[in-house]
Amino acid sequence: MPLPINLDDISNLIRSAKTDLKQRGGDYKATFDAMSASLQQEIQEIAALRDRGASVMPEIRFQDIVAGNISQAQQHLIRKRGCAVIRNTFPQALAEAWNQRIGDYVAENGYYDTPDKGLDKYFSSLQTGKPQILSVYWSKPQMEARQHENMAQTRRFLNRLWTHEHGGQAVFDPDRECTYADRTRRREPGDNSLGLKPHMDGGSVERWLDTEGFHQVYRHLISGNWEAYDPFDAAYRTETREIPSPAVCSMFRTFQGWTALTPQGPNDGTLQLIPSSRVMGWMFLRALQDDVPADSLCDAIPARALLCSPRWHQLALDGLTSIPHMQPGDTIWWHPDVIHAVEDRHQGQGYSNVMYIGAAPWCQKNADYLKKQAPAFLGGESAPDFAPENYELAYHDRAGVADLTQLGKQQMGLEPW
Ligand SMILES: [Fe+2]
Repeated sequence: MPLPINLDDISNLIRSAKTDLKQRGGDYKATFDAMSASLQQEIQEIAALRDRGASVMPEIRFQDIVAGNISQAQQHLIRKRGCAVIRNTFPQALAEAWNQRIGDYVAENGYYDTPDKGLDKYFSSLQTGKPQILSVYWSKPQMEARQHENMAQTRRFLNRLWTHEHGGQAVFDPDRECTYADRTRRREPGDNSLGLKPHMDGGSVERWLDTEGFHQVYRHLISGNWEAYDPFDAAYRTETREIPSPAVCSMFRTFQGWTALTPQGPNDGTLQLIPSSRVMGWMFLRALQDDVPADSLCDAIPARALLCSPRWHQLALDGLTSIPHMQPGDTIWWHPDVIHAVEDRHQGQGYSNVMYIGAAPWCQKNADYLKKQAPAFLGGESAPDFAPENYELAYHDRAGVADLTQLGKQQMGLEPW
């Protein structure tokens, strides 16, 4: 459900929300200072590992998920870092074939021939040149990857890293998935147009303004019990209310993620993360401190990505780390509260291509989104969270119902589970 607020009145809304949060909760300054000290230690640990070339982000193998061989220590580290690389989620040859077929799909349908295409104005100020993030949702390879059994197994594992019950009730079902149709990235060598600043996608100012959803998510931070804050506790996460925007995901995702279609690594214009799941909680408290203007949430802007900025959040930014080298078929996953960025320049030799596919387990919020998304799929329109560019309406070789497996139909909300 959208957050019912009047954006013309945003300064006053922020002012009164901050006053309320400061009065209602624990000692906001002492809480912030204590959490800052703890986070700083964690970030220093991350930076030290990174700077000596050691592994920072947990890496596991798909075959070990299948075999049930992921240790408690590995699971704990994934929760702490808020991210994981999963090697060989798909066979390399399959991912390479998908890459080729998506390339054919966009070329044969003339994707690049129409001007003013796919400029992601909500995140960056692309000027000219070939678009690098393609507003293509319904190619057959994307559908095949979303409904692939390996993807289902991977997401069951990832969903189960969360505490998915609260008060004896299921918050979501970790074993059933809802398709969240997202786009694909095809980034050319030499491209310098796609840099994305460190940010997160699941809402900006609403984290402080949504008294029913987000305030419950951050309840332990508000009350001063910051050590009890658990980013992997799903309680109330499916009840958050967002301001509708192409920069805000209106589904509940346990993880954002992508599947590598080409080899790529540091300096290839790929992903960077601040690998700590606690950064958003810390940013929540940061905005309440007395050095931040009363009507500011550290420069958070409604209906935009929430930025982690040098002015307010340098402590966390010191942990920004490039992901390790990825091979086609490897996947990377990060908690929706994990700050992520895309390197400004692609200095490598080959395309760095990915399919964005996250994990969105079954809950009422996600089921409601499927009701809007299914007609878009059937008609070839853009997915409902995104700008209604509708490039694929008449595309040849677009995926249709006949391309869906039983699982694919269930994930799309076209068949009951
Ligand atoms: Fe993002």
